Amino acid sequence: MAETKAEKILILAVETSCDETSAAVVENGRKIRSNIISSQIDIHQKFGGVVPEIASRKHVELIIPVMEQALEEASVGLDSIDAIAVTYGPGLAGALLVGLSAAKALAFATGKPLVGVHHIEGHIAANYLEHETLEPPFVCLVVSGGHSHIVYVEDYDRFEVMGQTRDDAAGEAFDKTARALGLGYPGGPLIDAQARKGDPFAIDFPRVYFNDGSLDFSFSGLKTAVLNYLNSNAQKGAEISIPDVCASFQQAVVDVLVHNTIRAAEQRGVRQIALAGGVAANSHLRNSMKEAAEKIGAEMFYPRPLLCTDNAAMIGAAAYYGYIRGKVSGLDLNAAASLKLGTTCG
Ligand code: KG4
Ligand code: ZN
Repeated sequence: MAETKAEKILILAVETSCDETSAAVVENGRKIRSNIISSQIDIHQKFGGVVPEIASRKHVELIIPVMEQALEEASVGLDSIDAIAVTYGPGLAGALLVGLSAAKALAFATGKPLVGVHHIEGHIAANYLEHETLEPPFVCLVVSGGHSHIVYVEDYDRFEVMGQTRDDAAGEAFDKTARALGLGYPGGPLIDAQARKGDPFAIDFPRVYFNDGSLDFSFSGLKTAVLNYLNSNAQKGAEISIPDVCASFQQAVVDVLVHNTIRAAEQRGVRQIALAGGVAANSHLRNSMKEAAEKIGAEMFYPRPLLCTDNAAMIGAAAYYGYIRGKVSGLDLNAAASLKLGTTCG
């Protein structure tokens, strides 16, 4: 039975920026009432990566049933919803447009406010769903298939990018390396699992640190080093230990991510460090960052794996903080495939 409207703010959120069709109901930015995630991984797996056109078509099929299910599971009717939130960038343009069109149509039909959300701000806000007491300021490492950003979260709606990748994103490096090893897609969890059986110091893969003080990342050389290692060993007929390659590759990625994030936290003098994005589900990254944070007296936060990868609840959490500050979007809101972080709603 649908409940009547109470003194709490309920946001219906939609996320379709890549290959997950997701809708959620979030209460006061912190409590998940429902979080429906329909993953297309099985469909894209046979192509070794996300095929944008297929992703858009699947979103079209799934978006309405997923939104209906989110309301049903939260036991709320549309009447009880205060605002409709949606990811409008960055992401695949065709995929974003599906969620955006559905959210705009619903906002228009119901007269409810629309709140456009930046996908990375959503990833950061996943931490608010998991940790009720976490409040800015903190430094957040956002690492996913498309992004590797060190963000100083000065306030709920104030972000400073302190470092970012100059080429491949961390998740992209995991996915490309897994493909080279014939492990499958998505590569992150598969490499994570293989690495547990391997020696992280078996192969000395390169770590890129910029000597101009920049906290940026570069992972394309690492991916090439793995390919060179595999090719030269194959030519020599030498045996390759997949667990050792995975563990050594993962160690190289984690070393750089941890080093730069800790430096960022020290530079801003914050005592809270958060992780976000699909790669934040990586067990070695979580453990290493926690250890390094403890050494500088900082507390670590990260969401459970389900909230690290793409989901609409994180969009509802981010939207709440925009909504209560009056940041609503017009119905002319458009998809922005390369939206920069810190761009305000609408
Ligand atoms: O945040 P997300 O779901 O989508 C984007 O916004 O990109 O992140 C997906 C990425 C993929 O590259 C996937 O391989 C990576 O997150 N990933 C992981 C792990 N789980 C997912 N990477 C390393 N270790 C994991 N356990
Ligand atoms: Zn994402």
